[in-house]
Amino acid sequence: MSYFDQIDKNRIPEHIAIIMDGNGRWAKRQGLDRTEGHKEGLAAVKRTIEAASKLNASYVTLYTFSLENWKRPKEEVDALMMLMIKAVADETANMIENNVQLKAIGNLDMLPPKTRAALDKCIEDTSVSTGPSIILALSYSSKWELANAAKEIAVELKNGKIKEEDINEDLMAAHLTTKAFPDPDLLIRTGGELRISNFLLWQLAYAEFYFTDELWPEFNGESLYKAIVDYQNRERRYGKTSEQISTERKQEIN
Ligand code: IPE
Ligand code: IPE
Ligand code: MG
Repeated sequence: MSYFDQIDKNRIPEHIAIIMDGNGRWAKRQGLDRTEGHKEGLAAVKRTIEAASKLNASYVTLYTFSLENWKRPKEEVDALMMLMIKAVADETANMIENNVQLKAIGNLDMLPPKTRAALDKCIEDTSVSTGPSIILALSYSSKWELANAAKEIAVELKNGKIKEEDINEDLMAAHLTTKAFPDPDLLIRTGGELRISNFLLWQLAYAEFYFTDELWPEFNGESLYKAIVDYQNRERRYGKTSEQISTERKQEIN
């Protein structure tokens, strides 16, 4: 039976976040330049979006480029920024046809103007869609995001817009770049590394983590479905006991 068939379609994770890692190693294994790995990674992005749309997952966040990735060799960064322009331009019509909306989080002001413009255009053009959101984390770092939130809250406090007692988890969440999205239910990382590399530190508080050795260019629909089957076999307890969770589930059914 395929992984797709094993999925309980009534319990799809609402928000799936993916750390798409392993493009460089994939290219190296084929004797190719790292850039070729990123191009092949783009094909995996398309497969993943298509596979997620089939399940009606509402939000898919893709870690596309971290703030730390700016430290990579200039040729690689330039190639990635160019690839981004082509990808969003080529895919806009497809996204609209599939009712997909594109969003982006991160320090977007650091993007080269042409990349930023192409991204903004795709976000604007796909805003007509009412279906799943694909959120690109671009020039993103969680520590950057959290420090920014602290700064914004400090200004509001100073200006008297809020009082000290107004500072709570909801206020923090409202100052994050992800304020319009629910927290991820499932985090997938490809490429075999067991770390989160400065990604959504706050938002992943109760996400289920799934790591695979598959390199990102090898990832496909069945890889995604395998991760979801694994996710559905877990019990999310949020600090409670297993008995409490089963009692609550029984009450929900009745
Ligand atoms: C992920 O693949 C893509 C980006 C970080 C932009 P990598 O480029 O990190 O691939 P590896 O980890 O070197 O194999
Ligand atoms: C994480 O991958 C960032 C993205 C996938 C965009 P990296 O390859 O940059 O992570 P590290 O450096 O191995 O932690
Ligand atoms: Mg990597």
